[in-house]
Amino acid sequence: MSLLDRIGQKLLFSFDPETAHGMSIAALRCGLPVASPPMRDARLMVSLCGLDFPNPLGMAAGYDKNAEVPDALLKLGFGFAEVGTITPLPQRGNPKPRIFRLTADEAVINRLGFNNEGHAAAAKRLAARKGREGIVGVNIGANKDSADRIGDYERGVARFAPYASYLTVNISSPNTPGLRNMQAREQLGELLSRVMAARAKAAAHPPIFLKIAPDLAEAELEDVAAEVIEKRI
Ligand SMILES: Cc1cc2nc3c(=O)[nH]c(=O)nc-3n(C[C@H](O)[C@H](O)[C@H](O)COP(=O)(O)O)c2cc1C
Repeated sequence: MSLLDRIGQKLLFSFDPETAHGMSIAALRCGLPVASPPMRDARLMVSLCGLDFPNPLGMAAGYDKNAEVPDALLKLGFGFAEVGTITPLPQRGNPKPRIFRLTADEAVINRLGFNNEGHAAAAKRLAARKGREGIVGVNIGANKDSADRIGDYERGVARFAPYASYLTVNISSPNTPGLRNMQAREQLGELLSRVMAARAKAAAHPPIFLKIAPDLAEAELEDVAAEVIEKRI
């Protein structure tokens, strides 16, 4: 790490993790840090599902949950920015504290629980950047108290298809009780059918990716793969 990075990290680590996260978003909104334009190298380009990524390293969902700074992230050199997870209605997420630093492991534990400002707020920001360059994916989810979770994903597809380079259907989170049950074959089949039907009806037809938990058993992965292939996700 450069000296400047080390000082920056020390400063951010003097705040609790969620406050530090918010400060970094605020800094990006203000145009900080001032960096020279990222280098482009043709060897790093990746083409996937009709998208040409300038490099394979993107900012994962969960950093810019409300689509506040996708262009600032791209300007830093990320090959793509995935905003979200965004749920139809705003929700507060789990009680604080809910992010925990594991400094020695250079890691964090996240128990945020899809805190976000909801579809309308994010859609307004994304509409304002429509037509700009850069790959911005939109990660969609379901509200914790929703009576129709699959319906929440359908609404996400309809709402964000016009603005998203791609959409991610996120059923990976352990922080929304029951969400991961959607990975079971029957539920997953229904979810993906309805998501693809919503995409067919939407104003634009971006590719759709499925985000699953990292700890599925081999047999579960086979079921997920079979559904994904069948539904052309
Ligand atoms: C603080 C925090 C918040 C996250 N929030 C989300 C989220 O809202 N939606 C999501 O799909 N993943 C979320 N994730 C998971 C990341 O997108 C990513 O999949 C995970 O951190 C693994 O990638 P990594 O090994 O590069 O950290 C979050 C992760 C962290 C650390």
